[in-house]
Amino acid sequence: MVTDQEIKKSASSIIRAKKVVALCGAGMSVESGIASFRGRGGLWEKYNPEEYGHIATLQNKPEKAWIMLREMSREIMKAKPNRGHLALAELEMLGRLSSIITQNVDGLHHVAGNKNVIEFHGNMQSVVCMKCGDRQPSIEINIDDSPPRCKKCNGAFKPDAVFFGEAIPSDALNHSHFESKTCDLMLVVGTSALVYPAATMPEIASSAGAEVVEINPEATPLTGSVSDYILRGTAGEVLSRVVSRVKDLLAAGR
Ligand code: APR
Repeated sequence: MVTDQEIKKSASSIIRAKKVVALCGAGMSVESGIASFRGRGGLWEKYNPEEYGHIATLQNKPEKAWIMLREMSREIMKAKPNRGHLALAELEMLGRLSSIITQNVDGLHHVAGNKNVIEFHGNMQSVVCMKCGDRQPSIEINIDDSPPRCKKCNGAFKPDAVFFGEAIPSDALNHSHFESKTCDLMLVVGTSALVYPAATMPEIASSAGAEVVEINPEATPLTGSVSDYILRGTAGEVLSRVVSRVKDLLAAGR
């Protein structure tokens, strides 16, 4: 259990910081019912990422890739922001969070109310036809089709998420670099920090002199090396306690 002292320490860091940036991973959305990728019950336990999550599979065997994409889409459609998402939205409204760099494709930070969200791996809210480029909102296609196809040319649809084998959109990469280089506090929430280039962001922040604080029930490769410390708990519990403490400190005029 994260102690009150640890919560107060990170809340004080947020108050003192000139620019706070959050890097979020799948652990952020676990409490919203969306499976993470690694670890017990993770998506990659069921589907080999190199097969199902690779752009080559989507291009050559779209019906196979959509087996996993269908499962992800169903979880995302049912999901609501959890108290961790709502805490980050409140932090932005308080003027104490500059941006979120999210690896997640579920769009829950936007739903929670955050405006400055960099979707490092794109999102699943829209699909694009791999043949004619026609783009549709995901809610308007039938994800039970195998695979869902474009009404205009019958080409197979691809979600606007970034697949293995694809480059990160340059605007997302450049914006994330800038935010990481210019923040003085980075909250790293719910990521195993195993996938690059997203996992370079905490290193960039740390090298630029920022304090890096992890929020995760488990340690990661950043722990004890790149991050200054880890709050070992879930995103929902820790973020809601930290933001509540930030509000107490602001109310007390600190
Ligand atoms: N609160 C906070 N963290 C949690 C929670 C929770 N409730 N539950 C799990 N975690 C942590 C796990 O301990 C793990 O460190 O979230 C992390 C999830 O790690 P991954 O499943 O690897 O997710 P992520 O780091 O986002 O993966 C990065 O890999 O497969 C690609 O494109 C995919 O964006 C994804 C990228």
